[in-house]
Amino acid sequence: MSFVLLGCNDNETKTYKIGFSQCISKDDWRKAMDHEMHVEVSLHTDIDLTVFQANEDIELQKKQIEFMINNGFDVIVISPLRPDPLVPLVEKAYDKGIPVIIVDRKINSQKFTAFVGANNIDVGRNAANYIASLNEKKANVLEIKGSDNSSPVIERHFGFHQIVKSEASLSVVYSIKDEEIEQQIPQILDSLSVKPINFVFAFNDNIAYNTWKIAKSKGLEKNIKFIGVDGLNGPNNGIDLVQNGVLSATILYPTGGHEAIKIAMKILRNENVPKNNKLNTTIIDYRNAEIMKNQYDRINKHQKDIEIQQQKIKKQEQTYSTQNNILKVLLGLLIISVLLAAFSIYSVYNIKKKKRELEIRNKKITVQRNQIKKIAKEVKISNDARVNFFTGLSHEFKTPITLILSSTESLAENKAIKDSKLLSEVGLIFNNSKRLLRLINQLLDFRKVEDRKFVLRASNTNLYQFSNIIFKDFEREAQRRNINFTISTNNEDLSVYIDRNLMDKVYFNLLSNAFKFTPNNGEISIEIQDELDSNFVKIHFKDSGIGIPKKEMDNVFLAFFQGSNNNKASSGIGLHLSKEFIEMHKGSIEVISKHGTEFIITLYKDKAHLNSDEIIYEADIIDSSLLNSNLDYEDDSFSEPLVVNDEDNYSVLVIEDNVDLVKFLRTKLSAEYTVHVSDGSDAIEKAFELIPDIILCDINLPDKNGFDICEILKKDLRTSHIPTIILTALNNKESYIKGLESGADLYLTKPFSFAILAQSIKTLIYNREKLRYYFVNNVHSIDESSSFGSMEQQFVSDLNKIINMNMDNSKFSVENLANDLNISRIQLYRKMKAIMGVNISDYIQNIRLEKAKNMLINTPLTISEIAYATGFSSPNYFSTSFKSKFNKSPKAFRG
Ligand code: FRU
Repeated sequence: MSFVLLGCNDNETKTYKIGFSQCISKDDWRKAMDHEMHVEVSLHTDIDLTVFQANEDIELQKKQIEFMINNGFDVIVISPLRPDPLVPLVEKAYDKGIPVIIVDRKINSQKFTAFVGANNIDVGRNAANYIASLNEKKANVLEIKGSDNSSPVIERHFGFHQIVKSEASLSVVYSIKDEEIEQQIPQILDSLSVKPINFVFAFNDNIAYNTWKIAKSKGLEKNIKFIGVDGLNGPNNGIDLVQNGVLSATILYPTGGHEAIKIAMKILRNENVPKNNKLNTTIIDYRNAEIMKNQYDRINKHQKDIEIQQQKIKKQEQTYSTQNNILKVLLGLLIISVLLAAFSIYSVYNIKKKKRELEIRNKKITVQRNQIKKIAKEVKISNDARVNFFTGLSHEFKTPITLILSSTESLAENKAIKDSKLLSEVGLIFNNSKRLLRLINQLLDFRKVEDRKFVLRASNTNLYQFSNIIFKDFEREAQRRNINFTISTNNEDLSVYIDRNLMDKVYFNLLSNAFKFTPNNGEISIEIQDELDSNFVKIHFKDSGIGIPKKEMDNVFLAFFQGSNNNKASSGIGLHLSKEFIEMHKGSIEVISKHGTEFIITLYKDKAHLNSDEIIYEADIIDSSLLNSNLDYEDDSFSEPLVVNDEDNYSVLVIEDNVDLVKFLRTKLSAEYTVHVSDGSDAIEKAFELIPDIILCDINLPDKNGFDICEILKKDLRTSHIPTIILTALNNKESYIKGLESGADLYLTKPFSFAILAQSIKTLIYNREKLRYYFVNNVHSIDESSSFGSMEQQFVSDLNKIINMNMDNSKFSVENLANDLNISRIQLYRKMKAIMGVNISDYIQNIRLEKAKNMLINTPLTISEIAYATGFSSPNYFSTSFKSKFNKSPKAFRG
């Protein structure tokens, strides 16, 4: 609001332009006129005064007037140099309606608005009357006029002479011009005796003072009375000169500066002003000079005070103006802030509105997304269920096929069949079963690749030896079809990190394809090329088969791709899997088809490209009888007949619910082992009861699963020592890890090679024998403080502790010991037999006798004291037992 008001005030304030053309600049009287105007103007805030100095140049003064006419001056004030030259311009201004005020000197025209000035005729008269009033008998006067032809000069002369004519005592003896004084006054003074003068009437105080100075220089200043005009205050001006006795009198001639501005203001306010504004004039001599001076001083002081006040006002105005400006800026900012605030509120409202809309849209989207999620989930569940069903079904296929293969193996071994024509039929069953198994395996592998469940298990492997073993598998087929099948390398010692299981599948697939598409008498080669100057090795599989059409080359590695010239049965995933497996090795496979087909596998030579969890240790191929755990059944290497030793048979507990598989295993294993069987429902009880030498356990069982059974048995003292093989169709990484976590010693996946199973059982039993040897030989060092940590170590340590605690107790029996160990007598017996291979009673007796022997050497106790201290019921029995162990009686031993 206040901003608006201020704005209005500003608009209402109009500044008037007053222009003043001053004809002469140099003397004090003119300066006083200018000053008066400025003082008067300063009392009005709405006036802007411009003073133009003409410097006695009439042409310049004309231009100044012209300028004021043309530049929008509201009032023109002129002190004209001469009466005539300015008339046309003054009239022009006047005709244009610009008010013109003439000051001090007149012009020869009536076309002006107002005149301000004293009456110069009166000035002349006053001077003459003053001289006359001094009552001199004879008053000779020297008149010194102004140089120009201005109205004051003319009128003062006229007024003075009017009076002189009427006063007989007065006579003007000389009348000269101001510009002549330097030349004339000395002469006039020199001729005073001829033509005496008593008075000098000069037309202004300055001329009078200059004349006095010349008279003084001649020592005549006291003889003449000097009278001037103007009566200005200030040093060496009229009043001062009167007070100093230089002048007898000065005729006051006011400048009219104040009055001219006052009249201009009136005109601007549209007030009527008189055309002629006469200023008073008076005589100042020794009688009133003091008063006049004081008055002027006071006026000056007031004026100075006013000026100080005005300066203060100006300062305040400036401050006000600054503050006003700041206020305006602040108001501006306030308005901008208010506008911004309004805009913000509007924006917030808009944003809120949009947010609400978005929220609604979001909700809709969320609902839709949830629906899609739900549908996707349902689809996934249904898909998973289907895939799992087929995967499970595929797994289920494996056990019967395993059995078919094993049975076929047995049939082929049967002498009656071997010698009959049925052998080829059996071979057909065997080969087709193998093919079926391979296809199922490929399907399962494909699923695993899809699920990213394969984890590379690469081990350092001699590539030539590895390739050679697979090469040999195909040699017979090559011979049969007269195919020139070769293997070669430029570095037989090269070892690379490969997952033997996966790479075996790759080799098998590539070679199967090569054999499939190469005609009889053709050529197939494996060439291992160690690129000696690089970190790569290339394996070339080349055949002279039908080749692949060029346009199909890019597709051969796609899943389910069937080549147009492939009329053989094919799943279309073999090459796809091969590529996936090789890429898991960070390698690559490419195909070239030109006079046959060539697959080139490129592999890294070192292991820097593999993660640490992808690297495992495996024995060298040559030493390992367990290579190719996933190998399809060997065509011709049937297991050698096992040596049967009925007396000291190891016992095997088979935990399996598949009746056929149980039958198969029982048949195969009973040749060498005592076979016990559980379908899973009583597996744990049976294991505790039998304490077998080895356990084979399936995973998917009706009651507890194989992992749980294995874990329970491994955590129980009675069975913890028994080597356990998990035998399952689950060949994924999770199950494998789970199996090992449950404590299983070996994890074999179905279909398994019986040869491998048989070898695994042998190895595990052999390892247990090694363990037993260790226990037997360290029996005395296995005590509480031993930190071996295994259950068996703990068991032996507990056992020894209990026996030692009952050392002198002749009634301490195996029963008591079993009780203390929380197992049955028979379990204790079997456990001891299993881990130490000794009879528990013998073991206790042995410890007693060892202790007694020790005491015989290290103590002075009598033999019977020692017998009782080591738990023998009588010294005689002790002696007999001691002698049978150490071949010396206790007495002889101490001897
Ligand atoms: C100053 C002056 C005054 C005189 C006036 C007449 O220039 O000569 O001394 O009174 O002009 O116009």
